[in-house]
Amino acid sequence: MNGVAKKEIYREALQELDAVLAGIDDPITAMATCAAVLHRKLPYASWTGFYRVVAPGQLRIGPYQGPLGCLEISFDRGVCGAAARQRATQLVADVEAFPGHIACDSAARSEIVIPIYHPRGELVAVLDLDSHQPAAFDEMDREGLELVAERLRASLGGDSRAFYIP
Ligand code: SME
Repeated sequence: MNGVAKKEIYREALQELDAVLAGIDDPITAMATCAAVLHRKLPYASWTGFYRVVAPGQLRIGPYQGPLGCLEISFDRGVCGAAARQRATQLVADVEAFPGHIACDSAARSEIVIPIYHPRGELVAVLDLDSHQPAAFDEMDREGLELVAERLRASLGGDSRAFYIP
């Protein structure tokens, strides 16, 4: 997909999320809505969803779209764990070349994972997207998804039981 098309996808996704999440402060509602909007808008995503921080160093699956995902991931495993541990976006063009990648879906070839923060600043989740195409995600996805994460942040403060917050 070319850059112009991706830019337009993210522009529309952000517009839709802004409209539908206005005034929402329930984190499950916000994450489920976000996963649905992104998964529908991004034709190259085979899996779109969240892993929540539920204990120190521990992620558990949250709202998602796509085939069955692993239920629990510790911070020391996989691409999701690396994003949570380093608090940094992981852009992986070839999952087979990523040490410790967790193959929930054997057809997955590339992946991007973005850290998600509570309004107060704590890391509370990661947003994970997989693709069956190699190198499906690029800097435009990073930019678009980091903007989505920033917008989502305002809607995550309402029910602290969704996350472990130190
Ligand atoms: N591949 C991820 C695991 C999550 S699933 O892809 C849904 C990882 O290595 O962290």
